[in-house]
Amino acid sequence: MNETTTTPATVNKIFRIGGDLPVHRIGYGSMQLTGPGVWGPPEDVENARAVLRRSVELGVNFIDTADVYGPNETERLIREALSPYTPGVVIATKGGMVRSGPWTATNPGMSFNGTEAHLRRAVESSLRNLGLQQIDLYQLHRADPTIPIEETMHVFRALREEGKIRHIGLSEVSVDEIERARSVVEIAAVQNIYNLTIRKHDDVLAYCERNGIAFIPFWPLHSGALAKSEAMAAIALQRGATPAQVALAWLLKKSPAIILIPGTSSLAHLEENVAASGIELADTDIEALDRLEV
Ligand SMILES: NC(=O)c1ccc[n+]([C@@H]2O[C@H](COP(=O)([O-])OP(=O)(O)OC[C@H]3O[C@@H](n4cnc5c(N)ncnc54)[C@H](OP(=O)(O)O)[C@@H]3O)[C@@H](O)[C@H]2O)c1
Repeated sequence: MNETTTTPATVNKIFRIGGDLPVHRIGYGSMQLTGPGVWGPPEDVENARAVLRRSVELGVNFIDTADVYGPNETERLIREALSPYTPGVVIATKGGMVRSGPWTATNPGMSFNGTEAHLRRAVESSLRNLGLQQIDLYQLHRADPTIPIEETMHVFRALREEGKIRHIGLSEVSVDEIERARSVVEIAAVQNIYNLTIRKHDDVLAYCERNGIAFIPFWPLHSGALAKSEAMAAIALQRGATPAQVALAWLLKKSPAIILIPGTSSLAHLEENVAASGIELADTDIEALDRLEV
């Protein structure tokens, strides 16, 4: 990134993860690149690789994944499609859970495992799958309810000191859990559910913004529902945008600490989502969206 030519407008479009990894605030989430129920490979593997390659061509340089997507499928796809990585592309993955089957209405097919033995195996496996020497951002997918988060963070700190991971993130945590984690090691990012419909983590977002921590809302499109929202159609029409773009632009404007990772398996949706960075919502749009029942 050339600092001397960076305009204020582009500064606002970049977040420095951990203070040293500049990424565009529209990234890409890879969870849609699996089979149904986040299980097995995607039906169209070539399309999945094309989506990943196109994301980087479009300037996306923050890609989110997890070992339980597939499991291992999206990490391997990312390596196959993007390695050797373009300099500046930041890959974030997650560990601390185990997938034993597909996600269904009655069974998420996943369980916690925050033990040191599991986390060490998981990091080695993610490094191999992704073809990396070091993981830029390693996120605890969920705090294991049977292990104090401080204990898990001691393992993460050791992995960082060993050079296997560069920055540490958490997922679906409270302010209290972030503070407990930070008593052991620096936290660079928090990935919690957040979108126009679900705003229960407003306190976590404000905390992250105050403390220079990236806030990465997962389900930015409410798993696709916001892209179909009729309630947002009027604002979208006024801005010459789609409802999905309005939902993403609302998040971008909500806080400079937000980095987006919309998930898609479609090249057209990818182009549309990345173009949301060019959509400027007026304060009146924000007020209307804040009041909206979506
Ligand atoms: N930390 C966690 O526990 C956690 C949990 C869930 C997800 N995540 C991460 O967050 C990322 C985002 O979440 P997500 O993928 O579940 O949900 P999402 O981004 O809210 O929505 C994805 C859905 O929206 C559709 N979509 C995307 N762009 C669209 C567009 N422009 N127009 C219409 N439909 C569109 C996709 O379908 P198409 O494929 O047809 O475009 C897909 O069904 C994931 O990919 C993953 O990296 C993390």
